[in-house]
Amino acid sequence: MIPLVTIDGPSGTGKGTIADLLAERLGWHVLDSGALYRVLGLAATRHGLALDDPEAVTPLAETLAVSFGRGRVFLDGEDVTASIRTEDVGMAASRVAAHPSVRAALLDWQRRMHRPPGLVADGRDMGTVVFPDAPLKIFLDATPEVRAERRYKQLKEKGLDANLPELVVDIRERDRRDRTRPVAPLRAARDAVLVDSTAMSIAEVTDRVLEEVRRVFPGLVS
Ligand code: C5P
Repeated sequence: MIPLVTIDGPSGTGKGTIADLLAERLGWHVLDSGALYRVLGLAATRHGLALDDPEAVTPLAETLAVSFGRGRVFLDGEDVTASIRTEDVGMAASRVAAHPSVRAALLDWQRRMHRPPGLVADGRDMGTVVFPDAPLKIFLDATPEVRAERRYKQLKEKGLDANLPELVVDIRERDRRDRTRPVAPLRAARDAVLVDSTAMSIAEVTDRVLEEVRRVFPGLVS
């Protein structure tokens, strides 16, 4: 059995950071599935495709030349790590991710990431659709206001333009789309451990998740 932890939840909960810290601590691989949808959103925008038209976007998803390495993300060999982090690309990702045929096209790619010595998979549907048999599923949540504030700080730190009230609106809109889409909506798996990070630091959430890892995979982590 190859160990696997899924971490799902809306954006701005610290999911990505926690998945990276956990994977580093455990020496496992990490799957940032949001980055995959972001690369697709970026590629579709660059090709001038109609993002809401599955017939336009699915062929691109089927042939997407995406790769990950040493914390960087590549599209056709080009380093797009920074370009995929903008709010526009996040919104494009959420639009292309709403198509069932697009999600189906990316399923195998994601499942192939489950390799020894283990995987931490971060996204919206890791525990519900992509890895429904995962032995440990975490669902991370926080209020939209706190998540918008965290995103605001992140963008500012990167020297990017940011407007807090607009971010709250964007986050609510993206949540609504992600939670109400008919296929793989954002929701906690029935057997997920719920963690509300609103009043918690990254270190506190990581400790909380590690506690669960010790419980589910005894002996794997000290
Ligand atoms: O997590 P991140 O904000 O990078 O994800 C960008 C968008 O990609 C999300 O708003 C969501 O619509 C989509 N996504 C998804 N399924 C995943 C990961 C991300 O639909 N597993």
